[in-house]
Amino acid sequence: MKIDKTYEGSFHIVGGDFSRAGEASTELKTIMLSVGIEDEVVRRVAIATFEAEMNIIIYTPAGILRYSISPGEIRIIAEDMGPGIEDIELAMQKGYSTAPDWVREMGWGAGMGLPNMKKNAG
Ligand SMILES: Nc1ncnc2c1ncn2[C@@H]1O[C@H](COP(=O)(O)OP(=O)(O)O)[C@@H](O)[C@H]1O
Ligand SMILES: [Mg+2]
Repeated sequence: MKIDKTYEGSFHIVGGDFSRAGEASTELKTIMLSVGIEDEVVRRVAIATFEAEMNIIIYTPAGILRYSISPGEIRIIAEDMGPGIEDIELAMQKGYSTAPDWVREMGWGAGMGLPNMKKNAG
């Protein structure tokens, strides 16, 4: 099915709230499927947004995930309150992570989030 209009919205993400990990990206996935986006595109967007959402939860006090689903393009903007990434090139490297031990113990911090976002996004 082809979409014929634009769907927009946003999700607030609270830093440190691991109980809601993946909530925004899961909800967006449901929206994409309900408007008829093809599975392969949904899969890629879901991976990229999940990683962005987790990074906001792990590394920032709060953020917002905005989406715009329109014919021919799905645009995602992940914005947070900082502190930002000082060395983007370094942070983009596979396996690079500054996640503290307690985060790693929960299974996060493999350093693959940003590379996977790049891989799955246009
Ligand atoms: N939203 C963000 N704010 C601040 N730093 C970030 C953010 N997202 C990523 N980073 C930094 O980039 C590093 C790499 O991120 P990523 O590839 O997702 O791996 P991981 O989350 O497993 O550490 C993080 O360890 C962190 O230092
Ligand atoms: Mg990450």
